[in-house]
Amino acid sequence: MKEQVKQKFAELYGEGAVCYASPGRINLIGEHTDYNGGFVFPGAVDKGIVAAIKLNGTDKVRAYALDLGEESVFGLNEEDKPAQSWACYIFGVCREMQKRGGTLGGFDTVFAGDVPLGAGMSSSAALESTFAFAMNELFDCGIDKFELARVGQATEHNYCGVNCGIMDQFASVFGKKGNLMRLDCRSMEYEYFPFDPKGYKLVLVDSRVKHELVGSPYNDRRASCERVAKVLGQEFLRGASMEQLDAVKEQISEEDYKRARYVIGEERRVLDVCEALEKGDYETVGRRMYETHWGMSKDYEVSCEELDFLAGLAEECGVTGSRIMGGGFGGCTINLVKDELYDAFIAKAKSEFNAKYGHEPKIYDVVISDGSRRLE
Ligand code: GLA
Repeated sequence: MKEQVKQKFAELYGEGAVCYASPGRINLIGEHTDYNGGFVFPGAVDKGIVAAIKLNGTDKVRAYALDLGEESVFGLNEEDKPAQSWACYIFGVCREMQKRGGTLGGFDTVFAGDVPLGAGMSSSAALESTFAFAMNELFDCGIDKFELARVGQATEHNYCGVNCGIMDQFASVFGKKGNLMRLDCRSMEYEYFPFDPKGYKLVLVDSRVKHELVGSPYNDRRASCERVAKVLGQEFLRGASMEQLDAVKEQISEEDYKRARYVIGEERRVLDVCEALEKGDYETVGRRMYETHWGMSKDYEVSCEELDFLAGLAEECGVTGSRIMGGGFGGCTINLVKDELYDAFIAKAKSEFNAKYGHEPKIYDVVISDGSRRLE
């Protein structure tokens, strides 16, 4: 990918570009907990965005998306927001860097990516992190790594309409080869966990379905959680117990109750999984993954028929753990599979899914990799 973007850059804008890269992410457990001040447990993957960039001495950005064959030219003032949605990510990052004191100028860039779109692996965070990291170096902004992750998050909030948490951008910036990261999204303390389960594989089964629900269901889920936290007199749902939730049951809607019940359960599950991993107890890890799946399906209602089918199939095949990954409404399941079961499970997932939905799911073996970086 690096050679391709460099070559296209040379063709369009000349020699002398420098390349930067940032990855997408997986998340072992801890879904929809980040904006609730809870824990997440992601890792960066070996798929991401690569961008060739060179300052151009003007006040304009010329950006070329290699995968789409499209160019966007825009300025760096608030009113210069480009029309193409992909370009808004780059524009938003520049604006957020400026808001944090960065003095930016124009640049040329060609970028490409191999994070499957709509799979719940955060292609957008990979794009944001690539440019936040690069701008910080190229324009010497002196912004620390946590703030770079916040630049990506603020880009989603202010320029892309998604009130996301910090997990994806954090994972993309802070990723470390062979390690998962447990982040406490309230204190922002984090810890690396070497992840190399002997005798198991971590594999994603991508349903390749994306259900566009009416309105903005992700933001709705977040709003539900915030309403319940308010009734509980807390800033976040984090730290609330089931007893506290039950005590206010009459004051909240049934729907909000179910949303909060999932989040409170999920907080405990992340901690359980970390503890189990340290003991090499993968059975517990897997059980919690299934609990997360059905919680996301029945209480949080962000799964869909295809993903419930895949998780159910995994369970039938004796897969240790399986669940929908990421924000939901489509995308993939993440599966913890014993080596000896791997081939049979993948074959069955492909054929049965195909028989029912008319296309095979895509399979990605998870390789936990490094975060944002300059490529030599
Ligand atoms: C999306 C968001 C994250 C997080 C997940 C769900 O990926 O960008 O902040 O909330 O959904 O865990």
